[in-house]
Amino acid sequence: MTDTELTLRRQMVQTCRKMNETGINQGTAGNLSVRHGDGFLITPSSLPYDGMEPDDLVEMGWDGTYSGRRPSSEWRFHRDILKARPDVNVVLHCHSAFATSVACHHRTIPAFHYMVGVMGGNTLRCARYATFGTQALSDAAIEALEGRMACLLGQHGQISLGTTLEGALWMAVEVETLARMYVQALALGEPPVLSDDEMERVIAQMKRMSYGLGPEEEGANDVARPRKPA
Ligand code: 13P
Repeated sequence: MTDTELTLRRQMVQTCRKMNETGINQGTAGNLSVRHGDGFLITPSSLPYDGMEPDDLVEMGWDGTYSGRRPSSEWRFHRDILKARPDVNVVLHCHSAFATSVACHHRTIPAFHYMVGVMGGNTLRCARYATFGTQALSDAAIEALEGRMACLLGQHGQISLGTTLEGALWMAVEVETLARMYVQALALGEPPVLSDDEMERVIAQMKRMSYGLGPEEEGANDVARPRKPA
């Protein structure tokens, strides 16, 4: 194993532990993958993250062959997302409580709050239900993720994507936070939704200001920037 691969495996283990620390994951739920070499690295199935070591991560090829431990039961959607989305390097799945609560009602989260835009559009979609570990679930997830960096999975959980491990973890915590706010806002009735025009402005502003959606736009002259030392 090269030093680069060992570093990546260590970073994956750290991210898995942070999934538990942030409260978005528990027990043997959840899984994580990162594009690597001629395929990807993925968490093994049913191994709690507390005791997981870099060697436990499974190397998989695009054809579904693997070496080492048995890969996550959700390897199909990890593989299919990484294949379909060259803009993404990391796929994170968990059963965070509020996102899953909304997904249990098959609700798409509308633009009740501008931060829905950080997922790339004016909705956080919910994928139709399919049995865990199946191609049908992978197909449903790919559809719900079109043009988005996250989705809910009907009666199951959430998927968050990133170009980096930190980015995917950040996105998953955002999804959970938004879902919690949505559930709480619903206690006072269905909240009003921001218009499509406003969400377009929000997303443009997020892109310009590097708000979770990528690098700050070149030449933007009214964004805050650090002073050069005198
Ligand atoms: P694995 O332990 O096989 O990754 O399964 C956990 C899970 O969340 C299934 O959706």
